[in-house]
Amino acid sequence: MKVLFVCLGNICRSPAAEGVFRAMAPGVQTDSAGTGSWHVGEPPYGPMQTAARDRGYDLSDLRARQFTAADFARFDLIIGMDDSNIANIERLRPAGSATPVRLFTAYAPESGVSEVPDPYYTRDFDGALTLVEACARGLLAEIG
Ligand code: 4NP
Repeated sequence: MKVLFVCLGNICRSPAAEGVFRAMAPGVQTDSAGTGSWHVGEPPYGPMQTAARDRGYDLSDLRARQFTAADFARFDLIIGMDDSNIANIERLRPAGSATPVRLFTAYAPESGVSEVPDPYYTRDFDGALTLVEACARGLLAEIG
């Protein structure tokens, strides 16, 4: 099983999702990517790394890359953090690809939240992690 987490910049939400989920599910192959290219090659955003480290997740090895159409063939499941991520991902879907693309929050319906708010803008890194952990637990329960 290979799961790809996708957000816009690949420096806040999707690296946090990858870091949390790989800690919960070491048997699942994970990666993350951004639909934008601004931060390619950069480590996760400092405040995001700090908030994650405070909960025991080390994100320091991760580096941003841009999502590409080839990712549809490389992964079994692609997970976006918000509706615009999903739209940007779907725009690149190759003809004939049936790879599922899902919202991360779909795995935490009890949260009552439909998207993972971007802490790069909200500055609520800890709140984003709380939601990411709930979504990751739901994903683990589904794909184990
Ligand atoms: P992310 O947050 O999508 O959660 O990584 C962002 C970080 C940076 C930018 C956008 C979103 N940016 O435009 O620089």
